[in-house]
Amino acid sequence: MPGSLFLQLPSELILACLETLPLTDLDSCANCNRLLHEIITKSVLLHYRREQARAGVGENPSVASNLVISDRLDKLHRRESNWLNFEPLSTHAIPIDFATTGLYDLTSDAYFVGDTADPNTRMCTAIKYIRTAPGETQWRTVDGGKPIIDFGTSLEEHDLIALVTYTIHDRNPLMSSVDISLLKFSTGAPHPLAAQPVLHVHDVEVVRHRPGISIEIVGDTLALSMVYWSFELRDMDVLYLFNWKLGTPCMDPVPVYNTGMIFLTEGMLVLPNSYDESLDVLYIPSDPVEEPLLLHSFHLPELMHDTSIRSFQCRGSPNPRTTTTSPSSASFVPRTWDALLMFSLQVGNHTTFSDHLLIVDRPRFFGAIQNAREENPEGVEWDDWGPDCCRWLNAQELSTQYITTTSGRRMVTIAHDAFERPAPITIMDFNPSSVRAHWHLGVVEREKATSRVVEASTQHLELFARPIASGLPYLEIVSKERFDYGAVLINDENVIGTRFGDATVASLDVLHFG
Ligand SMILES: *[C@@H]1O[C@H](CO)[C@@H](O)[C@H](O)[C@H]1NC(C)=O
Repeated sequence: MPGSLFLQLPSELILACLETLPLTDLDSCANCNRLLHEIITKSVLLHYRREQARAGVGENPSVASNLVISDRLDKLHRRESNWLNFEPLSTHAIPIDFATTGLYDLTSDAYFVGDTADPNTRMCTAIKYIRTAPGETQWRTVDGGKPIIDFGTSLEEHDLIALVTYTIHDRNPLMSSVDISLLKFSTGAPHPLAAQPVLHVHDVEVVRHRPGISIEIVGDTLALSMVYWSFELRDMDVLYLFNWKLGTPCMDPVPVYNTGMIFLTEGMLVLPNSYDESLDVLYIPSDPVEEPLLLHSFHLPELMHDTSIRSFQCRGSPNPRTTTTSPSSASFVPRTWDALLMFSLQVGNHTTFSDHLLIVDRPRFFGAIQNAREENPEGVEWDDWGPDCCRWLNAQELSTQYITTTSGRRMVTIAHDAFERPAPITIMDFNPSSVRAHWHLGVVEREKATSRVVEASTQHLELFARPIASGLPYLEIVSKERFDYGAVLINDENVIGTRFGDATVASLDVLHFG
């Protein structure tokens, strides 16, 4: 660009023009001209953007904006180094001084648990939560006023908590009403964007007992799947989609065989299907007049003869979101577009069973969906999509009670018997730049941890018919310290170790990495 007027501008103005370009375009600019190269490589701001991309995070403007760029960059470097070296900045305990019900959730900066159950209904009517940041000691309460069987949140996007309630009819004690209360999380009042603060789902005979439930909310869509496990008829095991703002259903309920769903994008839902042994993709049009459409089934590897999937759960954190109305307290938040999808399966025949975890790379899976665009009524065979997108983990030895074990591209695990035989905590970092940076280093002994890259491999998993190729590599970080937790969870800034009492969680330790 000799003689270009643009290049005659003061370098601050050139930088201001370049600042918002995608990183790949910046690379192109840097390669085409010496002056641009110098401006780009010397800019702390652009360096900071690059480092955020490398770490797979975005900054939380409400927290970061009071620091100058070089301090934010330092903070990010320290955070990444803490995770890599397994060096938490602090550890604090959260006592749980009330009896809990089995309901729980973990969001980017808060831990939720069902309050003490009413002895008559054996259900709670409130959800308790505590922030996971260091220094937080107070449990707070969201009161539902009715028996709660499950709940879902969309805190950052909508400041919303949705309580699924189960109320026996006053005049007909053989029937129950299942409803969803849509509350503004920060006030506990009915959510102002919901035309109807309570969505009626259905009435159901009490003899069916209480259903298993999954609930997720992204954009205007609330997805709810229910399975009445202890009843013989399967006719009420369905997926509902509501426009929660309008208070109207988006489609007729669709039959399901198991609960669980992940919003891949705002308009695409992944449904694990234990009956067809597949991941099904449902397209949700943004125009409410159009009906949602089942796009494709992506088959799992073939199981051994007479073997089936006995349970199939899933989770992807953070969810995609259309806006941020109520940001978390973390300085850096994982990107939504490449957050891992995690599936936990129990596979069994008449005499034995085995537990497996399936990690799916969100962008690669999205690519596989794009490639399968043409009609594919039979579904996409495992070999045509799976090996590239996935990593299988044998979970026989791992704690699998909780599904909240991924945050962005990181996953955390501990041995299932660590509560009686203390064991290391393992962090699996699927961030491609972490893998690239450590690829050639082999096993690295650090002060507090050992790391190594686990490359693509072929595994012989119990109860699968054939060896399975897993193409997705990760960086494994194993702590040298051993912990006696029953399970470990992860959110934006923390690993959370849980200890169990009689049946439910008794105490939490928060290992804060930043
Ligand atoms: C179940 O699977 C195990 C492990 O492959 C096998 O040894 C056993 O014979 C199978 N049982 C039945 C009833 O098929």
